[in-house]
Amino acid sequence: METNRIVSKAQLPDEEKIEISLRPKYLEEYIGQGKAKDKLRIFIEAAKNRGEALDHCLLNGPPGLGKTTLAGVIANEMGVNVKITSGPAIERPGDLASILTNLEDNDVLFIDEIHRISRSVEEILYPAMEDFALDLIIGKGPSARSVRLDLNHFTLIGATTRSGQLASPFRDRFGVLLNLELYDNESLKDIILRSASILQIPIEDQGAYEIASRSRGTPRIANRLLKRIRDYAEVVCDGIITEKVAKDGLKMLEIDMDGLDELDRTILRTMVINYGGRPVGIETIAASLGEERITIEDVYEPFLLQNNYIQRTPRGRIPTRKAYEHLGIPFTKEEV
Ligand code: ADE
Repeated sequence: METNRIVSKAQLPDEEKIEISLRPKYLEEYIGQGKAKDKLRIFIEAAKNRGEALDHCLLNGPPGLGKTTLAGVIANEMGVNVKITSGPAIERPGDLASILTNLEDNDVLFIDEIHRISRSVEEILYPAMEDFALDLIIGKGPSARSVRLDLNHFTLIGATTRSGQLASPFRDRFGVLLNLELYDNESLKDIILRSASILQIPIEDQGAYEIASRSRGTPRIANRLLKRIRDYAEVVCDGIITEKVAKDGLKMLEIDMDGLDELDRTILRTMVINYGGRPVGIETIAASLGEERITIEDVYEPFLLQNNYIQRTPRGRIPTRKAYEHLGIPFTKEEV
């Protein structure tokens, strides 16, 4: 359900090829995330000068901000290979063991959604991260013995939308912690202009800014909207994405001035009308909408919180004055 929304941050399968062609290869081309880039530039140069693998990195932030892209950039900058996998894809310890033994010296191993790896896989990962060693149990019962296998040095890059969910001994094994933030409109505009140039889509600056300002701070959404507005421009207009074409196209897509779609507005309406603006729990909101709690928390909430449509309180989420104004409903509660 969630993946059908045009502003969904989940990656759609048919998008993958195009997304790869749009991915920057080097830090120089990677737009935004200045703080993370500044740190990485230094750590990468230092590791390269010493001829060592970069320390393990944990990337934390909402989906769609380019965590996989950044892992690829790090590998390119280090001049090594990158192996991409995800927490849920590594089902058994043996799966991870085979990935680890196939890594070359200083390679990057990227594990997306690392908070979802199982306990038994995590146990293999600990000595691998710390000592570059694999502890294998050979045999069964009383004759079982443990054999330690040396691994090549590698950099683990873990990505998570919720670093708070990692056990602290696990989190502590990452030498570099980087928080990725939602992008500002200027950075998103530059990303859209760059993508448009790669995909040979005619676009004006104001058209790009219009799309940027409705992309919820997320490059994946910006690139997706760019492609849909291109369709609109080609079929309904003369193919050039001007400010007006972007505005008209976004109206057709039912994405409003602030990038909220029908589902965001439904969340706010539920909170304002059904619950009268009183604190409401995330489970209740999710159940009213027929969505998973985790989807609401990871995908919708960060944007609505960051842009001050809702606030978190100890007793639940409440809609703000801005939410009422956005819906055109008079605000009758005391100031929040
Ligand atoms: N595509 C997705 N994220 C990007 C970024 N940060 N810079 C450039 N292109 C991107």
